Amino acid sequence: MSEYLEDRRKLLAATAGAGAVAAAATAVPFVASLTPSSRAQAAGAPVEADVSKLAAGEMMTVEWRGKPVWILRRTPEMLAALEGHEQRLADPASAEKQQPGYAANRHRSINPEFLVVIGICTHLGCSPSEKFAPGAAQGMREDWPGGFLCPCHGSIFDLAGRVYLSQPAPTNLEVPPYQWLSEAVVRIGDDGSGDSA
Ligand code: FES
Repeated sequence: MSEYLEDRRKLLAATAGAGAVAAAATAVPFVASLTPSSRAQAAGAPVEADVSKLAAGEMMTVEWRGKPVWILRRTPEMLAALEGHEQRLADPASAEKQQPGYAANRHRSINPEFLVVIGICTHLGCSPSEKFAPGAAQGMREDWPGGFLCPCHGSIFDLAGRVYLSQPAPTNLEVPPYQWLSEAVVRIGDDGSGDSA
């Protein structure tokens, strides 16, 4: 086991309990709060999000088909951080079918600035936590480039949702179909191809 993984295992031992509680606490109220009509909407309809107020480095969440979809507005530094660790990723070039073709690139998005990804771990479905700060500031290793940590079993993903090698999660986070209706409005669940509904 690498030094990196040992460090992460210690961190997980300290945070796994809190993460499990947080996951349970957020999952139940969302489902319970849906009315029948909103439940039907959540089941299939595309959703639109206005990102005009999203500052660089911030992330917002919208619900699509009952799933959290993250929209992360990456800074130039975050985009630069997508390079340099790719030899430690399981699928750096997005060869697996975890995204539409227009997101099969290093930044896994249409517009490099905006990551649009389903915020559900591809292992057993927990919600990964933000670990955007590079380095050890958020309890990660010194050479951490920024990304996400799943609190349930420790899978780690970079700032494009690409999973690291030898993680419980087998694949990158899933990118939903989407399209930009304008510079500020993204439509999730419909990319205009007719295949995404
Ligand atoms: S559910 Fe994320 S690592 Fe297991």
